[in-house]
Amino acid sequence: MTLVTGGRSRERILLYGMEGVGKSLAALDIAARVAPARVHIIDNDNAWDRMLEGQTVDGRQVEVCAEYRWSTDVPGKGGSWEFDGRWTRDTGNVIVYHAEGWEANTSAIEEIRKDAEPDDWVAIDSGSALWDDVSEWYVDNIFGASKADYFMQVRAQMEKDKAALGALDGWTDWSVINAQYKAAVMAFLITPPCHLLVTCEEAQVSTGQVKGKDMEDKETRGLYGTVGFKPRAQKRIGHNMQTVIRLERKANGDYCARTVKDRGGREYWAGESVMDRGFSEWYLEEVGGWQEKSGSSSPQASSLASTSPDTQTALAPKSPPAIKPTAKA
Ligand SMILES: Nc1ncnc2c1ncn2[C@@H]1O[C@H](COP(=O)(O)OP(=O)(O)O)[C@@H](O)[C@H]1O
Ligand SMILES: [Mg+2]
Repeated sequence: MTLVTGGRSRERILLYGMEGVGKSLAALDIAARVAPARVHIIDNDNAWDRMLEGQTVDGRQVEVCAEYRWSTDVPGKGGSWEFDGRWTRDTGNVIVYHAEGWEANTSAIEEIRKDAEPDDWVAIDSGSALWDDVSEWYVDNIFGASKADYFMQVRAQMEKDKAALGALDGWTDWSVINAQYKAAVMAFLITPPCHLLVTCEEAQVSTGQVKGKDMEDKETRGLYGTVGFKPRAQKRIGHNMQTVIRLERKANGDYCARTVKDRGGREYWAGESVMDRGFSEWYLEEVGGWQEKSGSSSPQASSLASTSPDTQTALAPKSPPAIKPTAKA
């Protein structure tokens, strides 16, 4: 059985919440249900070696059909993808890009844009790390220091001068960072080549004012004001997505979901329990109207299919995208 959408438009979902609320697990759960459609994962938070060792809430395991690690080993070259075939299986439907740094993230986005089919999924896990990576990359390129070192230097200088010396500036710095992000990421979020899931950590919505001005802009307050928490990423991210859901783990251990916004006609969840339920079930099926279709996706069925030439293309996962492995010096 494989889960399919009856709709014409693709999903664009943002899941946010604290560490350990089930964001990555949602991507794993989707992968277990939508095969033979593929799930392209941008793992920029070093979570997916662990995720792939684990199981979904209902005990399913997923397999990779390709895995790439970003390598900056070759001198004079920014970086490139190295194919890691240690765990790949022909029956797998997950492609993982273990991305480190902004260039790896944008390169993975480009690869996925070229490779993804409309019924595939792409999961950016996480959108917060992606946003950190672009500012880190900027400071590194402009100031020749890591972001942590840069902020230390600025702070130390402030102490010396006894003056307020601005760190990253709204006009000269953040506008450039935003432009980089916009060119590489925003268009992809708005018009992805397939279904899209983005995860984000959360941050508190500030209610205070500075110099008589609200700390949060009107759009942020409008969308997240009543929730009290917003995704920690570029501030437009919630507006770029069609569905925004906050996941939370309650003090009693219950996992809950609250819809912040969704496409027209879809039911909103007000913090209901999703304990021991997979995202594909409680959201895609129950809210999004996705349905199971026979035309089996089990590994057994797809390996049978691959022996029969006429059914092969429909059932067998596609071969991994052709990325030239780095020639090791
Ligand atoms: N809906 C759920 N029901 C039961 N356990 C869950 C649920 N969601 C998450 N968990 C548990 O929480 C752990 C952490 O989930 P994970 O997706 O890695 O968190 P995140 O990516 O949000 O940091 C999972 O391994 C699982 O044990
Ligand atoms: Mg995670």
